Amino acid sequence: MKKLIALAAVASLTMATNVMAQDGEAVYQKACKTCHEMGIAGAPKAHDAAAWEPRMGKGMDALIGSVKTGMNAMPPGGMCMDCSDEDLKAAIEFMSK
Ligand code: HEC
Repeated sequence: MKKLIALAAVASLTMATNVMAQDGEAVYQKACKTCHEMGIAGAPKAHDAAAWEPRMGKGMDALIGSVKTGMNAMPPGGMCMDCSDEDLKAAIEFMSK
């Protein structure tokens, strides 16, 4: 019985961590907005579907890769030092719609 309670505690902790994962809008506000809000230095503007369409055509993995290594005026990681691939993906999905 004790073991079951411990398992339940672990499960609820794991769920709490999932809720804590950064959501796309939060990552965007924190790191990407500086450039992507106004389209600085040729950055595709947030929520400008036409600007994102050719980028999205590369596939999500390629886009995450561009952010991680940096691309021209975009610094590596898009200025988000603690972003995981999942966080970057969420931010890209948020900006591209
Ligand atoms: C310092 C400015 C700057 C910041 C901060 C920034 N970007 Fe960018 N981003 C750019 C610029 C400029 C481009 C266009 C690069 C080019 O095509 O020459 C770009 C392009 C991109 C692309 C398209 C890449 C491709 O392969 O076509 C993605 C995706 C992207 N940014 C995501 C992000 C995300 C996610 C963040 C926040 C975590 C972020 N950017 C933060 C400037 C920035």
